[in-house]
Amino acid sequence: MCGIVGYIGKNEAWPILLEGLKRLEYRGYDSAGLAVLSNGAIDVRKAVGKLKALEACIKDNPPAGSVGVGHTRWATHGRPSDENAHPHTDCSGRITVVHNGIIENYLELRTELEGRGHKFTSETDTEVAAHLIEEYYAGDLASAVREAAKKLDGSFALVVMAQDEPRCLVGARRHSPLVVGLGDGETFLASDVSAFLRYTRRVIYVDDDIVVSVGSSDVRLFDLDGAEVEKAAETVDWDAAMAERGGYDHFMLKEIHEQPRALRDTMRGRLNPDLARIELPGINLSEEDIRRIERIVMIACGTAYHASIAGKYAIEELCRIPVEVDVASELRYRDPIIDERTLAIVISQSGETIDTIVGLREAKRKGAKAVAVTNVVGSLAARESDGVLYTYAGPEIAVASTKAYTTQLMVLYLIALYLAQVRGTIDESRAAALRAALWELPGQAEVILNDYSEVVKAAERYYCFNGFLYMARGINLASALEGALKMKEIAYIHAEGYAAGEMKHGPIAMIDPTFVTIAIAVQSKTYDKILNNIKEVKARSGEVIAVANTHDETITNYADRVIRVPQTEELLSPVLVAIPLQLMAYYVACNRSPNVDQPRNLAKTVTVE
Ligand code: AGP
Repeated sequence: MCGIVGYIGKNEAWPILLEGLKRLEYRGYDSAGLAVLSNGAIDVRKAVGKLKALEACIKDNPPAGSVGVGHTRWATHGRPSDENAHPHTDCSGRITVVHNGIIENYLELRTELEGRGHKFTSETDTEVAAHLIEEYYAGDLASAVREAAKKLDGSFALVVMAQDEPRCLVGARRHSPLVVGLGDGETFLASDVSAFLRYTRRVIYVDDDIVVSVGSSDVRLFDLDGAEVEKAAETVDWDAAMAERGGYDHFMLKEIHEQPRALRDTMRGRLNPDLARIELPGINLSEEDIRRIERIVMIACGTAYHASIAGKYAIEELCRIPVEVDVASELRYRDPIIDERTLAIVISQSGETIDTIVGLREAKRKGAKAVAVTNVVGSLAARESDGVLYTYAGPEIAVASTKAYTTQLMVLYLIALYLAQVRGTIDESRAAALRAALWELPGQAEVILNDYSEVVKAAERYYCFNGFLYMARGINLASALEGALKMKEIAYIHAEGYAAGEMKHGPIAMIDPTFVTIAIAVQSKTYDKILNNIKEVKARSGEVIAVANTHDETITNYADRVIRVPQTEELLSPVLVAIPLQLMAYYVACNRSPNVDQPRNLAKTVTVE
């Protein structure tokens, strides 16, 4: 996610803005910029790369002035570049904007604005906000921002500065965070309190569809109709490190809680509120290409590989196309059967994992078209594939992948539904039911995150156990493998994911009172089978934690503990099942006190073999 900071007060703005951006670096970014109202004009400095590149644009000729805005960009629309870095200005250069979020309708707005003569200088969605505000500006910046905000679909936190209103900054937000810092004769606006905590702990959190106008010593809030609203100031008691984690003890827990937002952002523009159909503009495959696909090969590692397993189940069920999944480190050395009738789907949070990239190159060398599913704009996987579908999870700081996984699942479901839509392989009633269930997932994820006390209690009971077995059937085999990986990599406990039907072929020999079995028992066509597997484990004095649906009364007769998730289509259930399993690994790890965000021996991105 991008980082925003605004300052208006009595001191030089640029050092405060730069310091604020440094405090927001943890959010991840690929370019940065700032603008200061200097000697009656807006002076914009921006550079691709890290903040030291921006500092190089400033240090010899710093912009003088005590009002300004700053931005660190995590690219979502338009590659990382000087031109795409924020701040963005209107045609006149008298209005400048920084933005965090995704303006979903930016292409249609841009077409309209260009039709009315506006000249754009970037590929970003943000720039439409600058030109819209320009159109509405008639001497009242807050009013112009209100009118522009009404035109925007999607998520935004904006901070706007106008040359003709040198003693005010205006902010607006919808779904992306924006907070006001109340200083002594100075006021701050930022994505989170980290940016200004050293100056003040008195804050006002801006609510959705509220516009805030700030001077050096005054703050006024308005709804989009212009009615003034009141919001009490609060005092933040976090230290700087806690502030970076949004008050959570670890980035991993923060990122687990970001999943509802990440899922919504990943659906935006692809599954629209009318739920009528799936649109995947980035896939870059014609309908003819899609009809000609004879097989699909998935290329990924680690958590992304587990997502590909779920993707296999979804695509084979909905599209009737054979899907081969294999860890990239194996696929690349076994001369896989791939040709021009194969579609390669490359899944990688970082888009830089060397095994995955080499697998991608091998697939393309053999004639396959490739589509990347990645979280990083402009990554190797994105650049070397024919099409790219981004997950909009925002930067994932913790080594253990969480929000990247569930948003990868979301994209794979969208791909499965889109291919089925084009190939006509499912009837509309089934397709409509799945689209409606997809739409509900973020809200259902919120239900889980609102109360996971059962998970915390289970972690307190089982953190000292020596082994965890995760068993499941069907598409939730992916969930079992992923849940086990989380436990391995952050709690350092041996854990295995297994097809439950395989228990009698070996693993059941491990069962004893020191061994925990986590059974994924959400409603499915094999639900009765998993109940039998639970009985087999219990008969051998094994303890069983079941992940089951909220209203399932049967399961309590089988498992020692039950962790509940809302019911959804079986095909989509891995998105919800993943969350309690992430939390289970997290709280077990916290009880065993390893370094949760940076586990030993692991790197966030494996760019070497
Ligand atoms: C997952 O929690 C691990 N961090 C690791 O398995 C990771 O998924 C794997 O290295 C693949 O990374 P990528 O998605 O960036 O390619």
